[in-house]
Amino acid sequence: MVKIAVVGSSSMDLVVTSKQRPAAGETVLGESFKTVPGGKGANQAIAAARLGADVSMIGCIGNDYYGEKIMVNFAGNGVNTDNVKPVTGTETGTAHIILAEGDNSIVVVKGANDYITPEYVQACRDAVAAADMVLIQQEIPEETVEYVSSLCFELGVPLLLNPAPSRPISAKVIDQATYITPNEHEAAELFPSMELGQALEKYPNKLFVTEGSKGVRYHNGQKEVRVETFKVEAVDTTGAGDTFNAAFAVGIAEGKSFEESLVFANRAASLSVMKFGAQGGMPTREEVEANLS
Ligand code: RIB
Repeated sequence: MVKIAVVGSSSMDLVVTSKQRPAAGETVLGESFKTVPGGKGANQAIAAARLGADVSMIGCIGNDYYGEKIMVNFAGNGVNTDNVKPVTGTETGTAHIILAEGDNSIVVVKGANDYITPEYVQACRDAVAAADMVLIQQEIPEETVEYVSSLCFELGVPLLLNPAPSRPISAKVIDQATYITPNEHEAAELFPSMELGQALEKYPNKLFVTEGSKGVRYHNGQKEVRVETFKVEAVDTTGAGDTFNAAFAVGIAEGKSFEESLVFANRAASLSVMKFGAQGGMPTREEVEANLS
């Protein structure tokens, strides 16, 4: 069983479904409201656990009702929470999601996720050192991403950086990360002075760009390659990127090739969008394999 450590956010997703997305200053009537566990870090941890990895989560929650629910959810999915601590004086992170017109809009309030500081991760160093792969995203402080990147580099542990949501990243972090997985908008912000094709060529077998239903693009050192995704009836695309990242990490950590891992990740992500909620459709290992064969 491969070991995955996730340093990242745990949030509660407050999801409204509506036929119409309100414009600025407009009020519309919605259809439903649901509260489900989310946060990019937690989503990736749960996705990797469902795919059969031994997952250790490093994160923070508030000392509140949402925090308790999140801990129960981790336990139910077999994620190790020795390094998920409740903090006082703030609330559990929340994501305010509108599902409308076939896509989502999200406002994240980081809350306790801002307490995942470099010092906090330093105290969890053993979990990082024991991992076959570390996953990190950007709903936590920037200096923590920098610290984790240097720590993984020093320990020789492969690091997958999912640069979402988008913000500038230092050249050092880009160099130290083993894999960087932006979507097309994040890639444009990460490499503003380059065409996407140039950026892919500069970081072969390291940078890959997810393009939703168009699949994923990367450069294999000789040429640019697109790995097509699987066509499905999407109900909710929230968390598809997280499923993709987790599945890719599990595939690579297990020794699959780069391209095999991308196909595995595409299949897992395509299954994840068929149910409501970021984690609602995240598939088990058996489901992915049954759908691949
Ligand atoms: O990637 C999807 C996640 O982004 C949601 O679960 C929400 O928490 C937001 O952070």
